[in-house]
Amino acid sequence: MNTHADSLTDSTGTPLASRYTRTAITLHWLIALLMIGNVVLGLTAESWPDDWVRPVVDTHKSIGITVLGLALMRILWRVTHKPPPLPREFPSWEKIAAHVAHFLLYLLMIALPLSGWLHDSAWKDAATHPMHLFNLFPWPRIGYVMNLDPVLKETLHDRFGALHTWLGYALYALLAMHIGGALKHQWIDRKSVLKRMVP
Ligand code: HEM
Repeated sequence: MNTHADSLTDSTGTPLASRYTRTAITLHWLIALLMIGNVVLGLTAESWPDDWVRPVVDTHKSIGITVLGLALMRILWRVTHKPPPLPREFPSWEKIAAHVAHFLLYLLMIALPLSGWLHDSAWKDAATHPMHLFNLFPWPRIGYVMNLDPVLKETLHDRFGALHTWLGYALYALLAMHIGGALKHQWIDRKSVLKRMVP
């Protein structure tokens, strides 16, 4: 049965009922840009001129904390707003793969910044280098980690750092799958799902 909402289309001719909400679209692209930007800053941090390293790492931390906040909002939005279903003609393995990738991407939106924050909270110089969000206002470290015994903290600093790096590797693999999948539907299957997510 065609409801009124089903018959409404946007400027590209896509039925409105099969598009993501404006909030979901905004959060998707904002988080995507911030995360990709943060990967670039994280991977290049040590290659900047000496005077730049600290501001680059500080900006990386601020962007990461922002992603954590936006990801929490996005997950709340997601659980209260059902996304448009994938086209019925997609084989079930592809639908399952898409859902698994989406779930893991949500997990990384939380786990990547959280592991970075844990890593930074276990840094031996954290107390003498307070964190400021975008140089605007103070941002706390995780007190429980910061107050641990220095020897244990040193070990945790390494472990959380390694976790942060490995979660980065997982992100690269998932992003390749996610973008590859969207482009396959766009150009090979000729059944665009991308237009449901373009602003
Ligand atoms: C969107 C969230 C984040 C992403 C995608 C991200 C990604 C990365 C990546 C790819 C690296 C390089 C790791 C490597 O060596 O291969 C890195 C390094 C690092 N990240 Fe993050 N990160 C995020 C959030 C955070 C947060 C919230 C903090 C701390 C509050 C943080 C602290 C650090 C630190 C201290 C480094 C080491 C930088 C250096 O080389 O000195 N990250 N991050």
